Amino acid sequence: MVLKRTHMCGDLRIENIGQDVVLNGWVAKRRNLGGLIFCDIRDKSGITQVVFNDMIPQELFDKADSLRSEYVVGVVGKVAERESKNPDMPTGDIEILADDLVIYSKADTPPIYIKDDDKVDDNLRLKYRYLDLRKKKLQDNLAFRSKLTTLTRDYFSGLGFTEVETPMLIKSTPEGARDYLVPSRVNLGHFYALPQSPQTFKQLLMVGGTDRYFQIVKCFRDEDLRADRQPEFTQIDLEMSFVDQDDVIEIQEGFLKRVMKEMKGIDIETPFPRMTWQEAMDRYGSDKPDTRFGFELQDITDMVKDCEFKVFTDAIAAGGSVRGICLTGAADSYTRKKIDKLTEAVKSYGAKGMVWMKVAADGVSSSVNKFFTPEQLKEIADKMGAQAGDLILIVSDKNKVVYDSLGFLRRHIAGEMGLLDDNQFNFLWVVDFPLFEYDEKEDRWSAMHHPFTSPKAEHAQLLKTNPHEALANAYDIVLNGVELGGGSIRIHDKEMQEDMFRALNMSDEEINEKFGFLVDAFKYGTPPHGGLAYGLDRLVMLLTGEKSIREVIAFPKNQNAQCMVSEAPGIVDQQQLDELGIALK
Ligand code: AMO
Repeated sequence: MVLKRTHMCGDLRIENIGQDVVLNGWVAKRRNLGGLIFCDIRDKSGITQVVFNDMIPQELFDKADSLRSEYVVGVVGKVAERESKNPDMPTGDIEILADDLVIYSKADTPPIYIKDDDKVDDNLRLKYRYLDLRKKKLQDNLAFRSKLTTLTRDYFSGLGFTEVETPMLIKSTPEGARDYLVPSRVNLGHFYALPQSPQTFKQLLMVGGTDRYFQIVKCFRDEDLRADRQPEFTQIDLEMSFVDQDDVIEIQEGFLKRVMKEMKGIDIETPFPRMTWQEAMDRYGSDKPDTRFGFELQDITDMVKDCEFKVFTDAIAAGGSVRGICLTGAADSYTRKKIDKLTEAVKSYGAKGMVWMKVAADGVSSSVNKFFTPEQLKEIADKMGAQAGDLILIVSDKNKVVYDSLGFLRRHIAGEMGLLDDNQFNFLWVVDFPLFEYDEKEDRWSAMHHPFTSPKAEHAQLLKTNPHEALANAYDIVLNGVELGGGSIRIHDKEMQEDMFRALNMSDEEINEKFGFLVDAFKYGTPPHGGLAYGLDRLVMLLTGEKSIREVIAFPKNQNAQCMVSEAPGIVDQQQLDELGIALK
């Protein structure tokens, strides 16, 4: 028999005193103080204290005494005022004087302790995710996410967007990551790819006249994982016909304004600031700058181009630059040891080293004292706007290495200095991305967003002559240093689309094989169109103040892309492999 509950475990307050109530939930804690048993009952809304005293029948008292952590129970009783109130609990003013108890199921001792602030090993948490999910914080995150997706549907539907599901078993999409492949049994030797995004299909929906499309959709990318990356993640994906960049941006600002108001109670100002990609790189060393704090990059290439320090001059001669950041008030707290650690850290961004300068009232000390006169060092410090007590870090190399290293340093150090305020929300559009980027590892040009992104109108001709100099009609929405979403105005002209593929060094055959269906579709009347996709997991992570998207996904993968609960990926039967014509090496 299931007791019909009257309240959730987090509901009851002082005004409920005297009411007869029924609660269902899990035993969070039980203490027997002789004639009194205290038992905390938990559900997703919170915890209530239940008391079994010696006024109740012995049989009931014994039953209460048999309760252990995580037993699932129903309790019938009366709300009473607590003698010793607990100000740390929302229900801390009351307790339930129990007069009946049902035990629905018993539980073994749980392998993880179920408490919000408990430090449990991550893999253990993921293995027993169904226990981990009993924590209020995780349930709150899931509820937050659910409210956000409801709002999303409401907002976009209200503006005439149609929610359309696109296929999951598709031909590879070119979002730049590795595909997850699914073998076809019916077409032996052929493979589907799981979509890295619905990009090509949402464009076909525009050709199909859907006009405004959105979807909350799973995407799959086989890439290295980080705090804000999962192999399967969710996008809020959308596309619109007959729009330019400003139209798309305006609709998104309306969305984010409503999200901030309804989900956080915060009025944010629109329009959001816009910054070109080049400015973002030059000022912040990143295409997703965190603008909550300063520490902006400064270019000192001209100042040092004739100096004695070969590391600088060699980098400049090779076409690179010398740039630095001035960290206000950081000179004392960054000891040699800490600076050495930072130097190690920037090596992963390709930097061969890092120069430091500490500014004091009586002069500048630095790791390159012997190559510069005290006056020259002072001049650099002045140029960087440094005052006594400031630390300057300088990197010289190819521009990419300089940007990546300093971009990392400014954010890392801001974090260490406690300058990242979770309650400040700096939205920013980064626009005018290059259309192409050079992939050093692969030694070839690739599309910076994807090959369907159009060049800026004034750069359309460059696509035929100097494609790699063209800027794109692409835009990213950035929040506090995280790329929340990205999109572009697409190419809707068959010829331009073919030029684009050619600029990527694709042969006609390859174009036809990979994207023939899209180029073909463009032959039959294509509206100008554009769109954008948000990372839903990232949006929820930032709004809930979490540090990883795992905390806002019910069953995330671990660092090795494994589902620890179901133990996927797993081995399959030989028969299954045979049916697919697959032999394992
Ligand atoms: P893009 O590749 O920029 O664009 O992806 C859009 C957004 O999806 C999120 N995201 C991820 N989140 C978690 N884990 C991942 N592995 C992951 N990869 C991406 C990011 C990102 O900004 N089709 C285009 C959109 C368009 O042009 O309309 C696309 O997918 O928040």
